[in-house]
Amino acid sequence: MTETIGLVILAAGKGTRMKIETPKALARTAGRALLDYVVDAALGFAEDSGLSAEVGLVVGHRKELVEAWLSTHPKRDQLRTAWQQEQKGTADALKACFLNLPHFWNYDYTLVACADTPLIQASEFRTLFAALQADPSLVGVAATFDARDPKGYGRILRGHPGFHIVEEKDATDAERRVSEVNSGFYILRTRHVREVLGSIRNDNKSGEFYLTDLFQDQFSVRPVKFPSEEPFLGINTLEQLAEVTSLLRVQKLRDLMLGGVEFLNPATVHIDHGVIIGAGSIIYPNVTLLGHTILGDRVVVESGAFIRDSEIRAGSEILANSYLEGALVHEEVTIGPMARLRTGADVGTESKIGNFVEVKKSKLAKGVKVSHLSYVGDAEIGENTNIGCSFITCNYDGVNKHKTLIGSDTFIGSDCQMIAPVSIGDDAFVAAGSTITKDVPSGGFGIARASQVTKDGAARRFLKTKKS
Ligand code: UD1
Ligand code: CA
Repeated sequence: MTETIGLVILAAGKGTRMKIETPKALARTAGRALLDYVVDAALGFAEDSGLSAEVGLVVGHRKELVEAWLSTHPKRDQLRTAWQQEQKGTADALKACFLNLPHFWNYDYTLVACADTPLIQASEFRTLFAALQADPSLVGVAATFDARDPKGYGRILRGHPGFHIVEEKDATDAERRVSEVNSGFYILRTRHVREVLGSIRNDNKSGEFYLTDLFQDQFSVRPVKFPSEEPFLGINTLEQLAEVTSLLRVQKLRDLMLGGVEFLNPATVHIDHGVIIGAGSIIYPNVTLLGHTILGDRVVVESGAFIRDSEIRAGSEILANSYLEGALVHEEVTIGPMARLRTGADVGTESKIGNFVEVKKSKLAKGVKVSHLSYVGDAEIGENTNIGCSFITCNYDGVNKHKTLIGSDTFIGSDCQMIAPVSIGDDAFVAAGSTITKDVPSGGFGIARASQVTKDGAARRFLKTKKS
């Protein structure tokens, strides 16, 4: 029969030292909430280990924000919240979980994790679980490590058969000198929790209910020491948040380089955790790639590009200082330098968007060229159409937005305005300098400019310095 596990994540803490409005668990690093990392690691571990799992999030401070986060989470079916009204300590937090979610008592195992440790991965939980499973008489294991600076952590005091944990506040000087500390990550057999949790008291220096009291010398419990403290690094300040963000950055860049992505100067690039980049791509210095951005194979991104929630397909190039948000760029396209693609820009295969061109909510078919200084908004442009310099879709009449439709193999001369709604057919030609207010049919020629008047010798009437 499949074994079951309750993954309890303690997230009721206010994170006072962060000095931010949101609950600490929702503070963001590399484009995701701290909680996202821990939830992924815990669920990933359960899945790898063939355990049927559910997450219990213990929430307190501004719980409505955590609930809002949860409601859009892709794995929300596996996530529950439990409200801890008053923060009376970590044991009280676990109690709040069982009180709100009593079916968690039925799970074979209970995993406890903190919400503010984004470097934790499924592999740490696997190691911890393997230690518990290796000895059927064990009822609980705690992840520990030798801390460079043990200050603030509970110290591990190894006993027989088990061990116990003394919190810094309650420790003697000798106990404080112990460098092995408690990470705050545990896996327990739920029956052990059921036997002990209710009897934990708060007669200590903090007056808090300590979850660490689940571990006592007389219980069959064991500390599992990890070789590095990095995976367990918790975040209490914005400075620590920045440090962890740089560690995540290095991890992300390493993964991408292993996957065949070349960075000309990796130290200057920022890439969010969720960004995907295909092999053979080249990323220049000072590039920012955020959110759900996906770059296909062999994509080149030059310096100063800022790309958020956009998809750039194979072989395309984003030239220097371009700004893309919510855009879709098909294969073998050139964007920029200094172009701006806004939400809903959909640029077809082998198209070219040149410098100082802005495209918004417009679909450009294959081979379209808008090479210089233009605004394309609420438009559809057909295959191989060429748009001259300084083109403007006048899409907004002050109240509503209107569409501009341009067919395929059409030529629009430089400095044309399209007063939308308006449509230009296939194989049409619009003369330079035209302000188009009426449709031009397929094969048609449109011109809308005043004809020129030239008067010999009349310039001197307009020139300031008169020649006698
Ligand atoms: C706890 C451990 C300590 C360990 C350290 C590792 C106890 C008594 N001590 O210390 O041995 O070295 O973690 O970081 O458990 N939380 C709640 N409700 C509460 C209190 C805390 O949800 O009432 C949550 C916090 O939001 C946080 C986690 O529990 O995510 C740990 O709380 P924190 O106050 O950071 O733990 P410490 O007391 O520092
Ligand atoms: Ca505390």
